[in-house]
Amino acid sequence: MPLPYVLLSAAVSLDGYLDDTGPERLLLSSPADFDRVDEVRASVDAILVGAGTIRADNPRLLVNSAERRAARTAAGKAEYPLKVTVSATGELDPAARFWHTGGEKLLLTTDDGARRARALGIAADTVPLGPVLDWRAALEYLHDRRGVRRLMAEGGGTVHTQLLQQELADELQLVLAPLFVGDPDAPRLFGPGGYQGGRLRLVESRRIEDVVLTRYLPTAPGTGDRVSAADRHWLALACELAELCPPSATAFSVGAVVVAADGTELARGYSREGGDPVVHAEEAALAKAGPAGPRLAAATVYSSLEPCARRASRPAPCARLILDAGVRRVVTAWREPDTFVPGADGSGVLAAGGAAVVVLPEYEERAKAPNRHLEG
Ligand SMILES: NC(=O)c1ccc[n+]([C@@H]2O[C@H](COP(=O)([O-])OP(=O)(O)OC[C@H]3O[C@@H](n4cnc5c(N)ncnc54)[C@H](OP(=O)(O)O)[C@@H]3O)[C@@H](O)[C@H]2O)c1
Repeated sequence: MPLPYVLLSAAVSLDGYLDDTGPERLLLSSPADFDRVDEVRASVDAILVGAGTIRADNPRLLVNSAERRAARTAAGKAEYPLKVTVSATGELDPAARFWHTGGEKLLLTTDDGARRARALGIAADTVPLGPVLDWRAALEYLHDRRGVRRLMAEGGGTVHTQLLQQELADELQLVLAPLFVGDPDAPRLFGPGGYQGGRLRLVESRRIEDVVLTRYLPTAPGTGDRVSAADRHWLALACELAELCPPSATAFSVGAVVVAADGTELARGYSREGGDPVVHAEEAALAKAGPAGPRLAAATVYSSLEPCARRASRPAPCARLILDAGVRRVVTAWREPDTFVPGADGSGVLAAGGAAVVVLPEYEERAKAPNRHLEG
Protein backbone atom coordinates (compact mmCIF):
# COMPACT_ATOMS: atom_id res chain seq x y z
CA MET A 1 0.00 0.00 0.00
CA PRO A 2 1.53 3.39 -0.91
CA LEU A 3 1.78 5.74 2.07
CA PRO A 4 2.42 9.49 2.27
CA TYR A 5 6.03 10.69 2.50
CA VAL A 6 6.26 11.42 6.24
CA LEU A 7 8.55 14.22 7.34
CA LEU A 8 9.13 14.64 11.08
CA SER A 9 9.91 18.21 12.10
CA ALA A 10 11.05 19.32 15.54
CA ALA A 11 13.23 21.79 17.39
CA VAL A 12 15.16 20.48 20.37
CA SER A 13 17.34 21.88 23.16
CA LEU A 14 20.98 20.85 23.55
CA ASP A 15 19.88 18.40 26.25
CA GLY A 16 17.20 16.83 24.04
CA TYR A 17 13.99 18.49 25.24
CA LEU A 18 11.07 19.70 23.13
CA ASP A 19 9.73 22.16 25.68
CA ASP A 20 10.00 23.10 29.34
CA THR A 21 7.23 22.61 31.91
CA GLY A 22 6.17 26.25 32.07
CA PRO A 23 2.71 27.39 30.95
CA GLU A 24 4.03 29.12 27.80
CA ARG A 25 5.49 27.24 24.86
CA LEU A 26 9.29 27.38 24.92
CA LEU A 27 10.55 29.06 21.73
CA LEU A 28 13.49 26.95 20.56
CA SER A 29 13.82 28.07 16.93
CA SER A 30 15.08 31.39 15.63
CA PRO A 31 12.92 33.80 13.55
CA ALA A 32 14.54 32.71 10.27
CA ASP A 33 13.95 29.09 11.17
CA PHE A 34 10.27 29.73 11.92
CA ASP A 35 10.10 31.15 8.39
CA ARG A 36 11.76 27.98 7.03
CA VAL A 37 9.13 25.91 8.86
CA ASP A 38 6.45 28.10 7.24
CA GLU A 39 7.98 27.28 3.85
CA VAL A 40 7.96 23.54 4.58
CA ARG A 41 4.33 23.76 5.74
CA ALA A 42 3.42 25.50 2.49
CA SER A 43 4.98 22.61 0.54
CA VAL A 44 3.01 19.73 2.11
CA ASP A 45 -0.51 18.39 1.72
CA ALA A 46 -1.13 17.96 5.44
CA ILE A 47 0.33 18.89 8.83
CA LEU A 48 -0.12 16.55 11.80
CA VAL A 49 0.31 17.04 15.56
CA GLY A 50 -0.67 14.86 18.48
CA ALA A 51 -3.47 15.85 20.86
CA GLY A 52 -0.83 16.49 23.54
CA THR A 53 0.61 19.36 21.51
CA ILE A 54 -2.84 20.92 21.06
CA ARG A 55 -3.36 20.71 24.83
CA ALA A 56 0.10 22.06 25.71
CA ASP A 57 0.66 24.73 23.04
CA ASN A 58 -2.76 25.59 21.61
CA PRO A 59 -1.10 26.05 18.18
CA ARG A 60 -2.70 27.43 15.01
CA LEU A 61 -0.42 25.59 12.57
CA LEU A 62 -0.91 27.98 9.67
CA VAL A 63 1.04 28.97 6.60
CA ASN A 64 1.70 32.55 7.68
CA SER A 65 3.14 33.95 4.46
CA ALA A 66 0.43 35.39 2.18
CA GLU A 67 2.74 34.86 -0.84
CA ARG A 68 3.13 31.17 -0.05
CA ARG A 69 -0.63 30.77 0.38
CA ALA A 70 -1.21 32.56 -2.93
CA ALA A 71 1.31 30.24 -4.62
CA ARG A 72 -0.57 27.23 -3.24
CA THR A 73 -3.88 28.48 -4.61
CA ALA A 74 -2.29 29.35 -7.96
CA ALA A 75 -1.05 25.76 -8.14
CA GLY A 76 -4.61 24.50 -7.63
CA LYS A 77 -4.08 23.47 -4.00
CA ALA A 78 -6.08 24.48 -0.93
CA GLU A 79 -4.86 27.76 0.58
CA TYR A 80 -3.80 25.90 3.76
CA PRO A 81 -2.65 22.30 4.13
CA LEU A 82 -5.09 19.92 5.80
CA LYS A 83 -4.58 20.03 9.59
CA VAL A 84 -4.66 16.59 11.21
CA THR A 85 -4.54 15.54 14.84
CA VAL A 86 -4.58 12.12 16.48
CA SER A 87 -6.21 11.27 19.78
CA ALA A 88 -7.25 8.00 21.40
CA THR A 89 -9.44 9.63 24.03
CA GLY A 90 -11.09 12.40 22.02
CA GLU A 91 -10.57 14.60 25.11
CA LEU A 92 -9.88 17.85 23.31
CA ASP A 93 -10.80 21.45 23.95
CA PRO A 94 -13.45 22.52 21.42
CA ALA A 95 -12.26 26.14 21.80
CA ALA A 96 -8.63 25.31 20.87
CA ARG A 97 -7.24 27.52 18.08
CA PHE A 98 -6.41 24.43 15.99
CA TRP A 99 -10.12 23.99 15.07
CA HIS A 100 -10.87 27.64 14.33
CA THR A 101 -7.99 28.76 12.10
CA GLY A 102 -6.74 27.76 8.66
CA GLY A 103 -8.47 25.37 6.29
CA GLU A 104 -9.80 21.83 6.66
CA LYS A 105 -9.30 19.96 9.95
CA LEU A 106 -9.33 16.24 10.56
CA LEU A 107 -9.37 14.28 13.82
CA LEU A 108 -8.17 10.69 13.47
CA THR A 109 -9.27 8.78 16.51
CA THR A 110 -10.70 5.59 17.98
CA ASP A 111 -14.35 4.56 18.14
CA ASP A 112 -14.58 5.77 21.77
CA GLY A 113 -12.61 8.91 20.94
CA ALA A 114 -15.01 9.80 18.12
CA ARG A 115 -18.02 9.52 20.46
CA ARG A 116 -16.28 11.77 22.99
CA ALA A 117 -15.15 14.34 20.41
CA ARG A 118 -18.61 14.54 18.85
CA ALA A 119 -20.18 14.99 22.29
CA LEU A 120 -17.74 17.82 22.96
CA GLY A 121 -18.64 19.50 19.65
CA ILE A 122 -15.14 19.40 18.12
CA ALA A 123 -15.28 21.36 14.84
CA ALA A 124 -13.44 18.87 12.62
CA ASP A 125 -14.11 15.95 10.39
CA THR A 126 -13.91 13.15 12.97
CA VAL A 127 -12.84 9.75 11.65
CA PRO A 128 -12.81 6.68 13.91
CA LEU A 129 -10.26 4.07 12.80
CA GLY A 130 -11.38 1.25 15.11
CA PRO A 131 -10.92 0.37 18.80
CA VAL A 132 -7.28 1.53 18.62
CA LEU A 133 -5.47 3.86 16.25
CA ASP A 134 -2.96 2.02 14.09
CA TRP A 135 -0.47 4.38 12.42
CA ARG A 136 -0.25 2.44 9.16
CA ALA A 137 -4.06 2.49 8.87
CA ALA A 138 -4.05 6.22 9.64
CA LEU A 139 -1.44 6.92 6.95
CA GLU A 140 -3.24 4.72 4.42
CA TYR A 141 -6.43 6.65 5.16
CA LEU A 142 -4.64 9.97 4.59
CA HIS A 143 -3.11 8.71 1.35
CA ASP A 144 -6.11 6.94 -0.14
CA ARG A 145 -9.03 8.99 1.12
CA ARG A 146 -7.52 12.46 1.50
CA GLY A 147 -4.97 12.45 -1.29
CA VAL A 148 -2.11 13.24 1.10
CA ARG A 149 1.24 12.58 -0.58
CA ARG A 150 3.48 14.63 1.73
CA LEU A 151 2.76 14.81 5.44
CA MET A 152 4.63 17.03 7.90
CA ALA A 153 4.42 15.72 11.47
CA GLU A 154 5.19 18.57 13.88
CA GLY A 155 5.23 16.59 17.12
CA GLY A 156 5.08 16.13 19.89
CA GLY A 157 7.46 13.55 21.25
CA THR A 158 4.90 10.75 21.54
CA VAL A 159 3.92 11.06 17.88
CA HIS A 160 7.52 11.37 16.64
CA THR A 161 8.65 8.40 18.71
CA GLN A 162 5.89 6.16 17.38
CA LEU A 163 6.36 7.15 13.73
CA LEU A 164 10.12 6.59 13.92
CA GLN A 165 9.95 3.34 15.88
CA GLN A 166 7.32 1.95 13.51
CA GLU A 167 9.62 2.78 10.57
CA LEU A 168 7.00 5.06 9.01
CA ALA A 169 9.07 8.27 9.02
CA ASP A 170 10.75 9.02 5.70
CA GLU A 171 12.76 12.00 6.93
CA LEU A 172 13.68 13.76 10.13
CA GLN A 173 14.21 17.54 10.13
CA LEU A 174 15.77 18.43 13.43
CA VAL A 175 16.69 21.90 14.64
CA LEU A 176 19.19 22.08 17.50
CA ALA A 177 18.73 25.19 19.63
CA PRO A 178 21.61 26.55 21.76
CA LEU A 179 19.96 26.33 25.16
CA PHE A 180 19.37 23.84 27.96
CA VAL A 181 16.11 22.87 29.65
CA GLY A 182 17.48 20.61 32.39
CA ASP A 183 14.07 19.64 33.78
CA PRO A 184 13.50 15.86 33.90
CA ASP A 185 9.72 16.40 33.78
CA ALA A 186 9.90 18.28 30.47
CA PRO A 187 8.93 16.39 27.27
CA ARG A 188 11.76 14.77 25.34
CA LEU A 189 11.93 14.47 21.57
CA PHE A 190 12.33 10.69 21.47
CA GLY A 191 11.26 8.27 24.19
CA PRO A 192 12.69 4.85 25.01
CA GLY A 193 11.95 1.82 22.83
CA GLY A 194 13.12 0.04 19.71
CA TYR A 195 14.70 2.18 17.01
CA GLN A 196 16.60 1.07 13.93
CA GLY A 197 19.94 -0.44 14.94
CA GLY A 198 22.40 1.38 12.72
CA ARG A 199 23.08 4.94 11.69
CA LEU A 200 20.67 7.22 9.87
CA ARG A 201 21.94 9.05 6.79
CA LEU A 202 22.74 12.73 7.25
CA VAL A 203 21.60 14.47 4.05
CA GLU A 204 21.90 18.13 5.07
CA SER A 205 23.18 20.37 7.84
CA ARG A 206 22.63 24.12 7.72
CA ARG A 207 23.25 27.01 10.11
CA ILE A 208 20.19 29.26 10.45
CA GLU A 209 21.02 32.21 12.71
CA ASP A 210 22.01 30.53 16.00
CA VAL A 211 20.33 27.15 15.36
CA VAL A 212 21.43 24.24 13.20
CA LEU A 213 19.06 22.34 10.93
CA THR A 214 19.97 18.72 10.26
CA ARG A 215 18.08 16.40 7.94
CA TYR A 216 18.35 12.63 8.29
CA LEU A 217 16.90 9.68 6.40
CA PRO A 218 16.32 6.30 8.06
CA THR A 219 18.33 3.46 6.51
CA ALA A 220 17.16 0.15 8.02
CA PRO A 221 15.33 -2.26 5.71
CA GLY A 222 11.99 -3.67 6.83
CA THR A 223 11.67 -7.31 7.78
CA GLY A 224 9.83 -9.97 5.78
CA ASP A 225 6.75 -8.47 4.13
CA ARG A 226 6.79 -5.42 6.39
CA VAL A 227 7.89 -2.36 4.42
CA SER A 228 9.94 0.35 6.16
CA ALA A 229 10.32 3.94 4.99
CA ALA A 230 13.98 3.14 4.26
CA ASP A 231 12.90 0.36 1.86
CA ARG A 232 11.44 3.06 -0.34
CA HIS A 233 14.63 5.14 -0.22
CA TRP A 234 16.80 2.17 -1.19
CA LEU A 235 14.49 1.11 -4.00
CA ALA A 236 14.54 4.67 -5.35
CA LEU A 237 18.37 4.45 -5.34
CA ALA A 238 18.20 1.14 -7.27
CA CYS A 239 16.03 2.91 -9.87
CA GLU A 240 18.58 5.75 -10.09
CA LEU A 241 21.40 3.23 -10.61
CA ALA A 242 19.45 1.72 -13.51
CA GLU A 243 19.84 5.06 -15.28
CA LEU A 244 23.64 4.50 -15.35
CA CYS A 245 23.41 1.33 -17.49
CA PRO A 246 24.86 1.45 -21.01
CA PRO A 247 21.71 0.95 -23.12
CA SER A 248 21.17 -2.42 -24.79
CA ALA A 249 18.63 -3.65 -27.36
CA THR A 250 18.78 -7.16 -25.94
CA ALA A 251 18.75 -6.70 -22.14
CA PHE A 252 17.10 -4.60 -19.45
CA SER A 253 18.75 -1.71 -17.64
CA VAL A 254 18.54 -2.50 -13.94
CA GLY A 255 20.04 -1.15 -10.70
CA ALA A 256 20.59 -3.07 -7.46
CA VAL A 257 21.71 -2.37 -3.89
CA VAL A 258 22.56 -4.81 -1.09
CA VAL A 259 21.82 -3.44 2.40
CA ALA A 260 22.57 -4.96 5.81
CA ALA A 261 19.88 -5.18 8.49
CA ASP A 262 21.34 -2.16 10.33
CA GLY A 263 21.02 0.00 7.21
CA THR A 264 24.65 -0.18 6.08
CA GLU A 265 25.04 -0.32 2.32
CA LEU A 266 27.12 -3.41 1.48
CA ALA A 267 27.30 -3.04 -2.30
CA ARG A 268 25.59 -1.63 -5.36
CA GLY A 269 25.64 -2.44 -9.06
CA TYR A 270 23.96 -1.98 -12.40
CA SER A 271 23.57 -3.89 -15.65
CA ARG A 272 26.64 -4.05 -17.94
CA GLU A 273 28.70 -2.27 -15.29
CA GLY A 274 32.46 -2.01 -15.78
CA GLY A 275 32.44 -2.96 -19.46
CA ASP A 276 31.03 -6.47 -18.88
CA PRO A 277 28.37 -6.72 -21.64
CA VAL A 278 26.29 -9.39 -19.91
CA VAL A 279 26.60 -8.75 -16.16
CA HIS A 280 23.28 -8.20 -14.36
CA ALA A 281 22.80 -5.60 -11.63
CA GLU A 282 22.23 -8.04 -8.74
CA GLU A 283 25.16 -10.17 -9.93
CA ALA A 284 27.45 -7.10 -10.07
CA ALA A 285 26.37 -5.98 -6.59
CA LEU A 286 26.63 -9.43 -4.97
CA ALA A 287 30.13 -9.90 -6.41
CA LYS A 288 31.22 -6.86 -4.37
CA ALA A 289 29.27 -7.76 -1.21
CA GLY A 290 31.72 -10.43 -0.08
CA PRO A 291 31.15 -14.09 0.83
CA ALA A 292 27.88 -15.49 2.19
CA GLY A 293 27.67 -15.05 5.96
CA PRO A 294 25.43 -13.75 8.72
CA ARG A 295 25.47 -10.21 7.31
CA LEU A 296 24.14 -11.30 3.93
CA ALA A 297 21.65 -13.70 5.56
CA ALA A 298 20.00 -10.70 7.24
CA ALA A 299 20.45 -8.36 4.24
CA THR A 300 17.94 -7.09 1.70
CA VAL A 301 18.59 -6.89 -2.04
CA TYR A 302 16.86 -3.98 -3.77
CA SER A 303 16.48 -4.40 -7.51
CA SER A 304 14.61 -2.07 -9.86
CA LEU A 305 13.49 -5.13 -11.86
CA GLU A 306 12.54 -8.50 -10.38
CA PRO A 307 15.68 -10.74 -10.34
CA CYS A 308 15.82 -13.02 -13.36
CA ALA A 309 14.69 -16.64 -13.19
CA ARG A 310 16.41 -17.87 -16.37
CA ARG A 311 19.20 -16.44 -18.51
CA ALA A 312 21.24 -17.58 -21.48
CA SER A 313 24.35 -15.50 -20.79
CA ARG A 314 25.50 -17.13 -17.51
CA PRO A 315 24.85 -20.48 -15.79
CA ALA A 316 22.96 -19.11 -12.76
CA PRO A 317 20.09 -16.62 -12.87
CA CYS A 318 20.08 -13.77 -10.35
CA ALA A 319 17.29 -15.28 -8.22
CA ARG A 320 19.59 -18.30 -7.67
CA LEU A 321 22.67 -16.10 -7.02
CA ILE A 322 20.71 -14.23 -4.35
CA LEU A 323 19.60 -17.44 -2.63
CA ASP A 324 23.12 -18.89 -2.86
CA ALA A 325 24.50 -15.73 -1.20
CA GLY A 326 22.16 -16.47 1.71
CA VAL A 327 19.98 -13.37 1.21
CA ARG A 328 16.35 -13.96 2.20
CA ARG A 329 14.66 -10.65 1.41
CA VAL A 330 14.25 -8.87 -1.93
CA VAL A 331 12.45 -5.60 -2.68
CA THR A 332 11.66 -4.77 -6.28
CA ALA A 333 9.65 -2.28 -8.30
CA TRP A 334 8.72 -4.13 -11.46
CA ARG A 335 7.82 -7.74 -12.25
CA GLU A 336 9.77 -8.98 -15.30
CA PRO A 337 7.71 -8.61 -18.50
CA ASP A 338 7.80 -11.25 -21.30
CA THR A 339 10.14 -9.12 -23.47
CA PHE A 340 13.11 -11.54 -23.48
CA VAL A 341 12.04 -14.51 -21.34
CA PRO A 342 8.33 -15.46 -21.48
CA GLY A 343 6.83 -16.41 -18.12
CA ALA A 344 9.94 -15.54 -16.08
CA ASP A 345 9.07 -15.72 -12.41
CA GLY A 346 12.10 -14.70 -10.37
CA SER A 347 9.82 -13.92 -7.42
CA GLY A 348 8.51 -17.49 -7.52
CA VAL A 349 12.06 -18.90 -7.53
CA LEU A 350 13.00 -16.67 -4.60
CA ALA A 351 9.85 -17.51 -2.64
CA ALA A 352 10.39 -21.25 -3.26
CA GLY A 353 13.89 -20.77 -1.81
CA GLY A 354 12.49 -19.18 1.36
CA ALA A 355 13.00 -15.51 0.52
CA ALA A 356 10.44 -12.78 1.15
CA VAL A 357 9.74 -10.77 -1.99
CA VAL A 358 8.18 -7.33 -1.73
CA VAL A 359 6.97 -5.51 -4.85
CA LEU A 360 6.44 -1.75 -4.57
CA PRO A 361 4.56 -0.90 -7.78
CA GLU A 362 4.64 2.83 -7.04
CA TYR A 363 8.28 2.69 -8.28
CA GLU A 364 7.48 0.77 -11.46
CA GLU A 365 7.47 3.83 -13.71
CA ARG A 366 10.92 4.86 -12.42
CA ALA A 367 12.23 1.34 -13.01
CA LYS A 368 10.83 1.34 -16.55
CA ALA A 369 12.20 4.78 -17.47
CA PRO A 370 15.66 3.62 -18.73
CA ASN A 371 13.98 0.74 -20.61
CA ARG A 372 11.55 2.72 -22.76
CA HIS A 373 13.50 1.84 -25.92
CA LEU A 374 12.56 -1.83 -25.40
CA GLU A 375 8.80 -1.18 -25.43
CA GLY A 376 6.57 -2.15 -28.36
N1 LIG B 1 9.89 21.71 19.96
C1 LIG B 1 9.07 21.26 19.05
O1 LIG B 1 9.40 21.25 17.85
C2 LIG B 1 7.72 20.76 19.45
C3 LIG B 1 6.79 20.41 18.47
C4 LIG B 1 5.57 19.90 18.88
C5 LIG B 1 5.31 19.73 20.24
N2 LIG B 1 6.24 20.09 21.15
C6 LIG B 1 6.01 19.88 22.57
O2 LIG B 1 5.70 18.51 22.79
C7 LIG B 1 4.87 18.42 23.94
C8 LIG B 1 3.72 17.49 23.62
O3 LIG B 1 4.24 16.21 23.32
P1 LIG B 1 3.49 14.91 23.82
O4 LIG B 1 4.37 13.76 23.55
O5 LIG B 1 3.00 15.13 25.19
O6 LIG B 1 2.19 14.89 22.92
P2 LIG B 1 1.88 14.61 21.38
O7 LIG B 1 2.84 13.67 20.78
O8 LIG B 1 1.64 15.92 20.70
O9 LIG B 1 0.46 13.94 21.52
C9 LIG B 1 0.29 12.73 22.22
C10 LIG B 1 -1.17 12.38 22.16
O10 LIG B 1 -1.53 12.09 20.81
C11 LIG B 1 -2.45 11.03 20.79
N3 LIG B 1 -1.80 9.88 20.21
C12 LIG B 1 -0.49 9.67 19.95
N4 LIG B 1 -0.32 8.47 19.39
C13 LIG B 1 -1.51 7.91 19.29
C14 LIG B 1 -1.98 6.67 18.80
N5 LIG B 1 -1.14 5.76 18.25
N6 LIG B 1 -3.30 6.42 18.87
C15 LIG B 1 -4.16 7.34 19.37
N7 LIG B 1 -3.77 8.52 19.84
C16 LIG B 1 -2.46 8.80 19.80
C17 LIG B 1 -2.82 10.76 22.24
O11 LIG B 1 -3.88 11.64 22.52
P3 LIG B 1 -5.00 11.40 23.65
O12 LIG B 1 -4.26 11.56 24.94
O13 LIG B 1 -6.01 12.45 23.39
O14 LIG B 1 -5.52 10.03 23.46
C18 LIG B 1 -1.53 11.16 22.95
O15 LIG B 1 -1.71 11.45 24.31
C19 LIG B 1 4.43 19.81 24.28
O16 LIG B 1 5.14 20.26 25.41
C20 LIG B 1 4.84 20.63 23.08
O17 LIG B 1 5.22 21.95 23.40
C21 LIG B 1 7.44 20.62 20.79
